[in-house]
Amino acid sequence: MKAILCTRFGGPDDLVLADIAEPVPGAGEAVVRIEAVGLNFYDTLIIAGRYQRKPPFPFSPGGEFAGVVERVGAGVSDFAQGDRVIGYITYGAARQRIAVETRKLVKLTADLGLTRAAGLTVTYGTAYLALIERAQLKRGETLAVLGASGGVGLATVELGKLLGARVIACTSTDDKLAFARAHGADVTINYTREDLRDALKREGGDHGIDVIFDPVGGPHSEAALRAIAWKGRHLVVGFAAGEIPKLPLNLTLLKGCDVLGVYFGDWVRREPDRYRACMAELTRWAGDGKLSCHVHRVYPLAATAQALKALTGREVMGKVIVTP
Ligand SMILES: NC(=O)c1ccc[n+]([C@@H]2O[C@H](COP(=O)([O-])OP(=O)(O)OC[C@H]3O[C@@H](n4cnc5c(N)ncnc54)[C@H](OP(=O)(O)O)[C@@H]3O)[C@@H](O)[C@H]2O)c1
Repeated sequence: MKAILCTRFGGPDDLVLADIAEPVPGAGEAVVRIEAVGLNFYDTLIIAGRYQRKPPFPFSPGGEFAGVVERVGAGVSDFAQGDRVIGYITYGAARQRIAVETRKLVKLTADLGLTRAAGLTVTYGTAYLALIERAQLKRGETLAVLGASGGVGLATVELGKLLGARVIACTSTDDKLAFARAHGADVTINYTREDLRDALKREGGDHGIDVIFDPVGGPHSEAALRAIAWKGRHLVVGFAAGEIPKLPLNLTLLKGCDVLGVYFGDWVRREPDRYRACMAELTRWAGDGKLSCHVHRVYPLAATAQALKALTGREVMGKVIVTP
């Protein structure tokens, strides 16, 4: 079977398409035929050796997938051949089949195609962890989302609306702003044209911004924090801009605010019951059409490098999906 392999740290063009042995399910595992893989920005970091986890070589990128169970190993009673599933494994999915512990699978009973389902877990899961578990976003609060048309950004715009927030989408181009608005954003800010702090202060009024979702980092983080409300929550999600900012702590004192870390991968490992509850809710909302799971473009497995370059090139709105 075919797999995309990372055999040394490097860029997307260093990945190789290889023939590897078919997997065999061990005890507690299922072999899943992968129909679609969701790529995320962190895939570009993991293949470069710049992610917090450094897998042993060779490994496949692709942390989330959707597919169909083909075989189950000893002791597996909760999954059977033919089940439609989605899975989250951090890395390893960019291949045609995988043997995976069934505790990492979620049965897909909702009316949701596998291509869209493949990109649900990391983006909406991170949005759920950030808004519901960490920030405890309340109906009527103002939520500013940076990088609002990207994977986690778009998911947060949609989930924020679903939870009853007033959503301010902040992004770098007018096309991306229009896209965020079409997905529910109430207000938009183009942060390449306008000073982000001034624009957020204007939109937040005297009260300020209750919750800031920040997957971008760089200079945008401090600019946004300066517009936060009393008792606001600044969610630290990622650093797509490349620079990990240092925030002046006096701002947290003056604003009486919280800076909250959001780490989806560790949350899944540390709080599996909460993760399962989250996925049950997200798959239901997606099946009911309340979350778009928008697919920017689908690439064949052999074009995984192009899909990753679209992410680093800041082109993607929603998700890029690879079909093995
Ligand atoms: N903490 C967690 O658990 C968690 C979970 C998932 C993702 N993340 C992190 O969140 C960030 C976004 O992930 P994603 O998968 O949503 O990525 P994505 O789809 O590529 O979106 C990233 C967004 O960041 C903005 N951006 C600003 N400067 C950029 C640059 N130099 N290169 C690329 N994008 C840039 C872009 O929006 P504009 O053009 O509008 O600025 C882009 O849409 C990443 O840092 C990722 O590692 C963290």
